Amino acid sequence: MKKVYIETYGCQMNEHDSERMLAILSDNGYVQTDKPKEAEVVIVNTCSVRAKAEQKAYSSIGRYTGLKKGKPGSEKDRVVVFSGCVAQQEGKKLLGRFKGLNIVVGPSQVHRIDELVNKAKTDGTVIAVAPDKDQERFRNPVKGVHGVKAFVTIMEGCDNFCSYCTVPYLRGREVSRHARNIIDEVYALVASGVKEVVLLGQNVNSYRDNSEGRQITLYELLSALNDIKGLERIRFITSHPKDLTDELVHAFTDFQKVCPHLHLPIQSGSDRILKLMARGYTVKEYRDRIDRIRALMPDIALTSDFIVGFPSETGEDHRDTIQFIRRANYDNIFSFKYSDRRLARASTYDGKVPVQVIAGRLKELQDAQLEITRKIYGALTGTLQQVLVEGESKKQGRQQGRTAHGRIVNFSGTVPEGTVANVLIDDYSDNALYGKHITEEE
Ligand code: SAH
Ligand code: SF4
Ligand code: F3S
Repeated sequence: MKKVYIETYGCQMNEHDSERMLAILSDNGYVQTDKPKEAEVVIVNTCSVRAKAEQKAYSSIGRYTGLKKGKPGSEKDRVVVFSGCVAQQEGKKLLGRFKGLNIVVGPSQVHRIDELVNKAKTDGTVIAVAPDKDQERFRNPVKGVHGVKAFVTIMEGCDNFCSYCTVPYLRGREVSRHARNIIDEVYALVASGVKEVVLLGQNVNSYRDNSEGRQITLYELLSALNDIKGLERIRFITSHPKDLTDELVHAFTDFQKVCPHLHLPIQSGSDRILKLMARGYTVKEYRDRIDRIRALMPDIALTSDFIVGFPSETGEDHRDTIQFIRRANYDNIFSFKYSDRRLARASTYDGKVPVQVIAGRLKELQDAQLEITRKIYGALTGTLQQVLVEGESKKQGRQQGRTAHGRIVNFSGTVPEGTVANVLIDDYSDNALYGKHITEEE
């Protein structure tokens, strides 16, 4: 049996690209292994959004190409693949840097992994980093066993060029997938047992499909998916505050399967910094937007991303961010230390903030959010929550799932995966709720 080992860094789209590579290779007779030494094909699917992620990519590839050195026979025949955003960024230079590396493949070409592996077996090395705008790039053979939840790519790339971000240079310009193909894929997933789909794109709000002689927006796509029998929950990430239309906001109330959770990254609570980041909105515009969303749907769970220590960020800018966090009442946030990226404009900006200052600000930000998360989770104690069961929790003897709001719930019970359990919440931690399964009889 041929085996493939894969290691993934980065965002959900990268995770999903790895799933697609595995599905395509399994069509070609490969099975997944968690032991790189046993694998004929070793893939490292990489991320370049921050310097740390890029470093991890190099050390992994170094390790796996190193495994091949001086070892005759099967070790020598192993195909080592460098895929994803760092592969796109560095291209063929990587072949010079890592002896023993066979394939360099960018994100828009990962659907060709089978063909590339075969080519590498005869040619030794292959480069596939030319941006692919064709619909074929979204290829995903839906087959085999899926969990309760599945990712579905609806668009890829980004036209926003926020000044700190490498993504538009690596994922390329926005390309929307044809709605027909998305709908077909969701039908196939549901037939294999999937209950929840997470629609993926760097900027899903600008989803536009013109292939059927009229424009299909994300709202219309959600409307079509909402009608699929057997599908229970729909989420979409990531939304951009400047492109979030009122029409789309109504999707939360118009379509019963669209979950009451919106990830809407603000990045900073300072107008001066937002301008330097080229985000295209002010704090007030963002605030008005979330106020309107909450007017329509008061209990929606909002989450966000923040970058701490953007060039020239002052203590005052930072205080504005903390103040904003207290007002926004996010369920949760993802916060990152600013990382200089060579491709992004902000790497040339003056006023780089010292690392110790960034670390201190990050802690303050996270502490401020923790207080809010605890308040929100605390208020849920004693409530009954509908939890879509995803499987066993890491801690033995407990099951795990999520509420429609996206909150993780651990509970004691024996509910089949993929069903919705009523769970009485009796405790919480900083990132999850805890409770007990309540059956009808009780
Ligand atoms: N398209 C999405 C996700 C982009 S990357 C969006 O616009 O939200 C995910 C997050 O990484 C970003 O929201 C941002 O908070 C963070 N990020 C991007 N570039 C970064 C950098 N150079 N340094 C630190 N964090 C960064
Ligand atoms: Fe990067 Fe901005 Fe595009 Fe998000 S919207 S991927 S942060 S450039
Ligand atoms: Fe990273 Fe590329 Fe995603 S840079 S965050 S893997 S789009």
